[in-house]
Amino acid sequence: MNISTHYEISKNELKDKIILLTGANRGFGRAITLDLAKAGASVIMLGRDLGGLETVYDEVVGLGYQQPILHPLDLEGATPEHYQQLQSEILDNFGRLDGLIHNAAIIGTMMPIEQYDIKLWYSTLQINLNAPFMLTQFLIPVLSQSVDARILFFSSSVGREARAYWGAYGVSKFAIEGLSKTLAEELEKTNIKVNSVDPKQMRTKMRQTAYPAENTDNIPPPELISPAIVYLMSKKSKNLNGKQLVLEFNK
Ligand SMILES: NC(=O)c1ccc[n+]([C@@H]2O[C@H](COP(=O)([O-])OP(=O)(O)OC[C@H]3O[C@@H](n4cnc5c(N)ncnc54)[C@H](OP(=O)(O)O)[C@@H]3O)[C@@H](O)[C@H]2O)c1
Repeated sequence: MNISTHYEISKNELKDKIILLTGANRGFGRAITLDLAKAGASVIMLGRDLGGLETVYDEVVGLGYQQPILHPLDLEGATPEHYQQLQSEILDNFGRLDGLIHNAAIIGTMMPIEQYDIKLWYSTLQINLNAPFMLTQFLIPVLSQSVDARILFFSSSVGREARAYWGAYGVSKFAIEGLSKTLAEELEKTNIKVNSVDPKQMRTKMRQTAYPAENTDNIPPPELISPAIVYLMSKKSKNLNGKQLVLEFNK
């Protein structure tokens, strides 16, 4: 199902919403943070690079948007205890969570499965799949406290149709699709809506790593895609559940 990236963000449309976003310090995560805060949401910015998180925090506050909350955490090394602590902090400070956006990921390496570096395979699956699983498991009780909660898993075209040499990244996105669908069925009768989203191509470090020789002139920057995420967190998209969404870029 296609979702247009052309979406007019209204001030305060996400007022009083508490939304946790992973990988918030740069790339698509930075653009999403700015747009969610512009729409009035309090963004819990999770990322492993505290300096990068602080830079985006300063940007948000400088623009007069809703002040975010920083939560430094390396998703590769995070244990159930870290997620338990995060759950307690959100419950103590806000009493609920309205949105969980799994944006953080690594590309791993472009390599045939036969030669794929085993350590990098583990790291990629840990960050792209196991961490979103654990984070989701610990935050479902907190999301259950919201009257209208959303979980978004970020996928990719290579997680919906196999492509040679995309290795652990492609496999992790196939698994994310499975996690999203399974969870959407399990939570069908609750207030938590679960969907996966392929944002398609964006001019970020990840894209540059995957296609180093590409002319990026026609690749949209993440700021032109991120308004669609505000739409997907807003009450206008309340009825979407268990969908495989694609963000359709419109100039
Ligand atoms: N760009 C595209 O064309 C494209 C296309 C399809 C799907 N996507 C998906 O869109 C999402 C965002 O991609 P992007 O292009 O913005 O990627 P990116 O520029 O590489 O940014 C990835 C983000 O994930 C964070 N991250 C990586 N490892 C982490 C860890 N161990 N702990 C915590 N945070 C970690 C990074 O933080 P650090 O700064 O600390 O590394 C960074 O904030 C991803 O899920 C990606 O698969 C992107």
